[in-house]
Amino acid sequence: MKLFIDSGNIKDIETLAALGIIDGVTTNPTLLSKEPGDYRQNLKRICEIVNGPVSGEVVATDYAGMIREGHDIAKIDDRMIVKVPLTRNGIHACKTLSGETIRVNVTLVFSAAQALLAAKAGATYVSPFVGRLDDIASNGMGGVKEIVEIYDNYGYKTEVLVASCRHPMHIVEAARMGADICTCPPAVIDALFNHPLTSIGLEKFLKDWEKSQAVKA
Ligand code: E4P
Repeated sequence: MKLFIDSGNIKDIETLAALGIIDGVTTNPTLLSKEPGDYRQNLKRICEIVNGPVSGEVVATDYAGMIREGHDIAKIDDRMIVKVPLTRNGIHACKTLSGETIRVNVTLVFSAAQALLAAKAGATYVSPFVGRLDDIASNGMGGVKEIVEIYDNYGYKTEVLVASCRHPMHIVEAARMGADICTCPPAVIDALFNHPLTSIGLEKFLKDWEKSQAVKA
């Protein structure tokens, strides 16, 4: 399964990308609004850091505006993916942009029914938001399972990009379900590394080694 960083922060992206385990980046207007500087230049810089797809989202809600902004985002770099919301205009724009070989990520997806529309519109990625569903006592990962099943049934090429991940178990469950990608905030990726037995075990190995060296000296 591919792992994307869900962030617009250049420093966080640089730090994680250096580990060699990151396959791409997703941003949204909220994430980019937190960063200083010009958003187009920031997206360009992210593309230079990460050797993989980088999603940038349109803010227009009308069809013509989405197409105009989609073209603008796609011009930033070959790695750019145009993110559109799952609305009627978003699905229409997805169909048009995908027809021009511009890759589209359909975002703000909260049901398998919506994910079916994204696949039919030729989306490269569909982004079901699991954490936001969990927040309202709905089963976010249950929706992902349905989407993976439906896409497998019909051989849709759209990749399932699990978004709004809040904790490592979202990632583990997504991988078990056969989702293609998880996009996670840096803190959630950091949490993947942690296990108390790893820390305890390493501390003991190092102490034992130090003791044995002191005896030999
Ligand atoms: C995905 O592309 C979105 O940017 C993101 O995962 C939303 O996550 P949130 O619900 O934590 O804001």
